[in-house]
Amino acid sequence: MDETGTHRTVLLEEAVAALAVRQDGTYVDATFGRGGHARAILDRLGPGGRLIALDRDPDAIGAASGIGDGRFTARHARFGDLERTVRDAGVERVDGVLFDLGVSSPQIDRPERGFSFRFDAPLDMRMDTTRGETAADWIARASVAELKGVIRDYGEERFAGQIATAIAAARQRQPVRTTGELAGIVAAAVRTREVGQDPATRTFQALRIHVNQELAELSLALPQAVDLLAPHGRLAVISFHSLEDRIVKRFMRDEAHPQVPERLPLRAAELPKPRLRLVGKPVRPSAAEVAANPRARSAVLRVAERAA
Ligand SMILES: C[S@@+](CC[C@H](N)C(=O)[O-])C[C@H]1O[C@@H](n2cnc3c(N)ncnc32)[C@H](O)[C@@H]1O
Repeated sequence: MDETGTHRTVLLEEAVAALAVRQDGTYVDATFGRGGHARAILDRLGPGGRLIALDRDPDAIGAASGIGDGRFTARHARFGDLERTVRDAGVERVDGVLFDLGVSSPQIDRPERGFSFRFDAPLDMRMDTTRGETAADWIARASVAELKGVIRDYGEERFAGQIATAIAAARQRQPVRTTGELAGIVAAAVRTREVGQDPATRTFQALRIHVNQELAELSLALPQAVDLLAPHGRLAVISFHSLEDRIVKRFMRDEAHPQVPERLPLRAAELPKPRLRLVGKPVRPSAAEVAANPRARSAVLRVAERAA
């Protein structure tokens, strides 16, 4: 595979260990990418095991077709459609679901995907290139308030107001069509910057999350994963930024400790039953992994088990 086709899998051993793979189990890799986790799961499965992989990126599914293994099924789907996709593959219950969130290296490294300000290329940013609105199209039609809201909320960018105003002024002169144009507009609008970080980093993250509805997808998928899990089945999620991790952490906590509305007179037998049990502490990559793969720097793996 060429340099831009490879993905260095983050927390490979840790995530696969977290699934506690049983030889005859059925597992879901909700984010196939280039299959680093998927291959490690297949290595641990016996002849009766099964792995279903999803990805919304057609390039990832193209790469998955290279895995010639009767135990493996790949589907081009959003994980927001997890339950239907898995049931359509003829499976009702699974023993583990893995999410390795965010973008893959090939998505970032291929200029034509438009995710990176390191190249000047059309401003696309869609993980699923077969449908949906590109970042350029959204920027062309969004109001200044919408631009500001997305850049502030998904980029956690202090200068969201200045950047939104600058984008709106620039697009009056000519449409913002490329990554280079957008990076230039942001750099001119934002003077101070964290050391070692490009001024456009937060804006690009924000647009990517918005274009792909990443947080909404995650919120839709987590309860579906729990619905699919058999008793003692494992849910393992790797997040790469605090917005994702907050959703995962709260979801697992709420499922492990369901809240009772205050003053509701419930008897012990009527109390909501936890659907999940938290497994271990959050796992972060070793210093050696971060040194070898800087993308692992912000990763955190959370694991939970379906209650019996
Ligand atoms: C970090 S990569 C996964 C890498 C993979 N674990 C490996 O070892 O090669 C994340 C992948 O998830 C996919 N993805 C992100 N959000 C998705 C969603 N909502 N539905 C389906 N796939 C999604 C991306 O297209 C990308 O290929």
